[in-house]
Parts: sequence; C-alpha cells; structure tokens
Amino acid sequence: MKIGRTFRKTLPPATHELLRAIGMLSRDLGYRAYLVGGIVRDLMLGRENVDLDIAIEGDAERLARTFARKTGSRMHSPTRFGTCKLESKAFGTLDIAATRGESYRASGALPNVVPAQIGEDLCRRDFSINAMALSLNPGSYGRLLDPLKGAVDLKPGKLRVLHAHSFEDDPTRMLRGIRFAARYGFTFERGTSLLFGEGVDRAFLKRVSGKRIFTELKLLSREQEAARAFVLLRRHKVLESIDPAFGWSEWKLKHARRLEKAIDVFGESAPTGFLEEWRAWFAVFFAGVGRRKCDRLVAYLNLPKELRKICTWTAVELRRTLPRLERLDSSRAYRVTKLLSDVPPEGLIHLYVAGGRRERNLILTYLNDWMHVRPVLTGGQIVGLGVARGPQVGRIIESILKLKLSGKLLTRADEASYVRRRAGSARES
Ligand code: CTP
Repeated sequence: MKIGRTFRKTLPPATHELLRAIGMLSRDLGYRAYLVGGIVRDLMLGRENVDLDIAIEGDAERLARTFARKTGSRMHSPTRFGTCKLESKAFGTLDIAATRGESYRASGALPNVVPAQIGEDLCRRDFSINAMALSLNPGSYGRLLDPLKGAVDLKPGKLRVLHAHSFEDDPTRMLRGIRFAARYGFTFERGTSLLFGEGVDRAFLKRVSGKRIFTELKLLSREQEAARAFVLLRRHKVLESIDPAFGWSEWKLKHARRLEKAIDVFGESAPTGFLEEWRAWFAVFFAGVGRRKCDRLVAYLNLPKELRKICTWTAVELRRTLPRLERLDSSRAYRVTKLLSDVPPEGLIHLYVAGGRRERNLILTYLNDWMHVRPVLTGGQIVGLGVARGPQVGRIIESILKLKLSGKLLTRADEASYVRRRAGSARES
C-alpha cells in the first residue's frame, strides 16, 4: 500500500507545516521523530483522524518543551509514561512521547517502560495495523516504517496481535480489538482469534481494574458502530468472563439493536443536547439486570455519579416504569408528564425502546409538546395576584400545569383569572 501521496494530500498544509517543524527541531537536537499509532492507520484507510501522536527517539520532554516555547503553546505535565501533551489554538493538541520498549511484571498490570528505538517501540504495540510509523525526519519525511506488515493486514481488514502473549500482557487489548473490529468491520486473523478465545476462557480481563474496564467500555459506547460492538462482545462472550452480570440475553441484544433507530428518532424530536448518546449506549450494559447485579457492576466499574443514576434507572426502574406508562394514554398528559419528567434522558430512550407503539407515541408527544409546557406566571406574580406566600404557591403552579396540559388554560389571562379565583376561594374559606 502506498502512503506517500495519501499522506501528502489527506493532511491539511498547516498540519504538514507543523510536522515538518517538529522533524526539523528533532534533527537539530540530534533526535529522530515519527508520526505513530492510530493516525497512520487511518491515513492509510482514508479516514479522518486528528490525533497527532509523535514518537521521538531522544529526550521527548526536552523536545516538547522547546517546541512549546517556540510556538507559544501550552504543555501539560508529562503522564506517567512520559507523554507530553501540547495545546495551541494554531494546531489543537499534539502528543509527544519517547520511543520505548515495554515489559509486563504481571498480566493486566501497567507495563515497565525503557527507552528504545522506533523498531522496538512498534513491536510493543497491540495490533499490526496500529504498529506503523511515518518518518518526520528531513530527508525521509513521509516514509512509511512498517516492519510488522500492518499494511498487509489493512487490505483484507485483519486484526493481528504481534506476539502470543499480547492479550495476556494487556487484556484491555481484547476490548480494543472489539472496538476496531466494530469500527472498521475487520475480523481477527486466525491465530489472533485463537489467542482471543484463550483470553476469554482464562478470563484475562478479570485481572484488569474495573476503572480500566470502564474506560474501555466508555470508548466502545462512543463508537459510531456501538451496536455492532455489542454484537461482537456477545458473540465472543467477552464481558461474561469478567462477571455473569454482564450477560447478554436475547432481549438485551435486541434492545441494543433497536437503540440505534431510537437515537435517530430522539434526534428529531428532543431538544438539541437532550441526551448524551454514549451514555445511552453505555446504559445498555445495565438494561433490565435488576438491583443486585446493577449494584455490583456500578461498584466494580466505579461509575461517576451521573452515569450511575442513568445505569441504575435502566437496570431497576425501567421495568417498573413501563407498566405504569402502559396504563396511561394521551388523555392523561399531566400524569404522563409527571411520570416521564423524573426519568433521566438516557433512561427515557431505553423506555422508548422497551415500549410498544402506544408507549413510544406517548414519549414522542412528551418530547415534542408536553415537556415544554410551563405556567407563564411566576411564583412572584401568583403572590401578586393575591395568593399568600407558602406551599400553596407551589400547589397552584402544579394545578396550572395540570390544566394547561389538559387544554383548559390557554393564555396568560386564563392563568391569571384561575389564580384570582383560587385566591378568592382561599380567602372565603
Ligand atoms: N496502544 C497499544 N496498546 C494499548 C493502547 C495503545 O499498543 N493498550 C498503541 C497502539 O499502537 C495505538 C497507540 O498506542 O495505535 C495509540 O493509542 P490510542 O490513542 O488509544 O489508540 P488509537 O489507535 O489512536 O485508537 P483511536 O482511533 O480509537 O483513538
């Protein structure tokens, strides 16, 4: 596969200018610089990717600091593996790290790293398609380094690990593999598929912290092809090897498949930004699992508060809320609104998916109309119309909402005369 022309043409001129400048600075410091990782793979596939990962044979931190100073960009403190993140308005973000080799003390632990040359750095990576580099060095700018034959695997769409212990060393690669398989429609090459199966049988993923599993599942949920990723997770029984609570029933898988369409429908009916799609996808792991399993998974993954609420709702409340919604119809706008307004948006879409046609229509009417109905009069204005301050103001606001939703109060004047009537009858009694 030829990369030269693609590389030149796909990246905008400003990015080339930036990369060439890094290459020249690196040469001046006596180092060598490479573009590495996902962006090389995506350039070759002709897919957009803006994550510039740079590997330096040399002191990466020194190069990053010098480059930050020269370009007036901000540099974050290096991560535990020495990656320096640079940020600037001119070029967005840039990750600069030293080329390194890795060794694993124990399966699933974070690696020990030692400085190494680019060849060894590529060998420590997950899949051959992610183990290619493009030279940024003057004189060989744009030349592809592909010692592990990633380009050969890219063509037929194969995911191939670089050695037999890859999944055992870093079991998160199993979830990364599912992610790339779903995103690109790739399959595991035969040997890799056997190693993957062994990783599932021996539950390698159990050796990884729940926090890291959460990070990977979040990335999966952010994929455009999340539904496809879930099908693959189920087919390979990946998550069940961590905890049976992650099991995929037929219902749950069907539910996941229907979510895609529901997200489109919500996109048309709900206000912009109403739900965060990835959270809705993430909640699929919890759909209908019940309280006990849910509490276990929430604790294991150490979910942040907002997400915990959504997942718990989907695990526990979904089954309780659906029959309550089934007992209502469009003549009960207020009751439907009360029921649905307590549901987190990413839970509501699961209710939509789980419901029948009638429930789905109620939810859409809620999203399009009922959700937006509010009394025009404020609490202060209600007091101004003669109602004594106190809890009765809240009760009147609620009554106005109810009457508006049943079409009995249409205008501000209707609301005001209703409030005056209530204030009058309160005085009389
Ligand atoms: N990598 C690896 N093993 C991991 C994580 C990362 O070998 N467990 C290597 C791969 O070479 C990968 C690179 O580090 O390409 C950058 O990692 P990351 O940004 O997570 O992956 P991308 O391949 O860029 O994936 P994405 O497109 O999803 O960002």
